[in-house]
Amino acid sequence: MPEMDFSSTSVEGLYVDDFQSEIEKQKYLDAMFAGEIPIPPIYKAMGVDFTGKRYVDAVLRKRLIGVLSAAAPGHEVVTEDMRGLTKGARISKFLQANMASQREQIDYVRERNPYGILGENAMLKLTGYRKAVRTAGESKKVDFTASGAGMLAEKDLKQFEQFPHMGLIAIVSSVVAARGVMRCIAQHNIDIKRIMFCVEDPNTAGGHLGAKEKDLNGSKRYDPVLIAEQLEHLFPHIPRILAGGIAYRDQYNEKAFQSGYQGGGIGIRGLFNQESELTQELMEEYYFNRIYETVVNGNSPTGYIGRYLNVPRHVQTPEEIDAYVRWAVGNCVACINMKECTFLQAHVKDGEVVPDLESEIFCIGQDLPRTTRGEKGGTVFSSTMRDVIIDDEVYYDADGKFDCPSLSKSHDWWTSHDAPKQSKLSTEAQAADHNAKNPNTPLAS
Ligand SMILES: Cc1cc2nc3c(=O)[nH]c(=O)nc-3n(C[C@H](O)[C@H](O)[C@H](O)COP(=O)(O)O)c2cc1C
Repeated sequence: MPEMDFSSTSVEGLYVDDFQSEIEKQKYLDAMFAGEIPIPPIYKAMGVDFTGKRYVDAVLRKRLIGVLSAAAPGHEVVTEDMRGLTKGARISKFLQANMASQREQIDYVRERNPYGILGENAMLKLTGYRKAVRTAGESKKVDFTASGAGMLAEKDLKQFEQFPHMGLIAIVSSVVAARGVMRCIAQHNIDIKRIMFCVEDPNTAGGHLGAKEKDLNGSKRYDPVLIAEQLEHLFPHIPRILAGGIAYRDQYNEKAFQSGYQGGGIGIRGLFNQESELTQELMEEYYFNRIYETVVNGNSPTGYIGRYLNVPRHVQTPEEIDAYVRWAVGNCVACINMKECTFLQAHVKDGEVVPDLESEIFCIGQDLPRTTRGEKGGTVFSSTMRDVIIDDEVYYDADGKFDCPSLSKSHDWWTSHDAPKQSKLSTEAQAADHNAKNPNTPLAS
């Protein structure tokens, strides 16, 4: 890769070109995947379906890079009572619904944005990963697939050879993972025309995290600056973007451009706008409510730790938990491999459902779509920047009431504002801070 220095580039005003033809777009993609140009924000996928077709359409219309989520886009089927069906029939129904919805979403976005840069996110941990990649590839309308939540193996990588027009963004959290992908490509002589790394920082990012909890905060293995240096050394021809903890202009410029990345990925900053599939009621009631804190725990059935808002679960009493477990197991669509699902491991013994009332592990196939549907008490993924950005004026009207902006307005705002120097403290924290400094005139906290 030619020595490119983007350290003086700013994200403010940085857009994809206004292409008038497929040829122009392909030239741009070549330059982007060769690391020759600074990459405008990639609005990353947030499943299940928060980044739906309206969201991605709005991203592309803004001349940014959008990514549809292929994580269970056919999630409506999980609300149906499928307990009378065989396991195979349930799984097949789920996969068919996913592929149909994926095709419909791709068509919707592409019809409206013939030359926009469109990606698809597929997660290796999910059943149907290769089907999702195939659906995107066969459509001939998707410019890249971003693959994460698992290690890409030979078969996964080989599949990209069938779709030479479709690039691969390998989501990794460490150099070890990036090396694993590149070693597999070299060993098996796999020909993928366009590859990029998305380094996902587990110390800040939202959703599932590619690290062990004990390694968060402090391990050099996940230091984005060191990772960029090592990737530049090992794979100088592969561009890289950073995702996690980028929600303001200075963060994009410093964490990405000035730290050896060609661009950045946007998660939680993209979630709060009118085009998001997350309902505005849930947005306001959960994300804009400081009662709920952003926490990391290991309650996901995938075996990955994740970052969440600690909202109360929709099931509390032993009777509710019992009924929930029986419903979830009876309607299981194997969204993750049944043998690896820790929810099933907790509640199914020798083929019998034996609800473990103490287990905190949730059924992701039931609880994540719950949030997408606007129902309370399900899985609510969060990111560290959520705690800061909810004070930003762009989310409030003149009377201080929550007022959700359009994606376009939100983008203009964050790319023209730097992060607050000191994050605003909650009322309790302000009182505690005051009391520590002024012990003779304490405030009630
Ligand atoms: C609500 C939510 C859902 C997410 N869902 C997915 C997903 O389905 N697939 C994925 O690869 N990453 C997912 N992520 C991670 C984001 O795509 C993004 O990489 C990450 O949040 C970046 O960190 P940031 O939120 O600090 O910007 C999710 C994040 C959030 C907050």
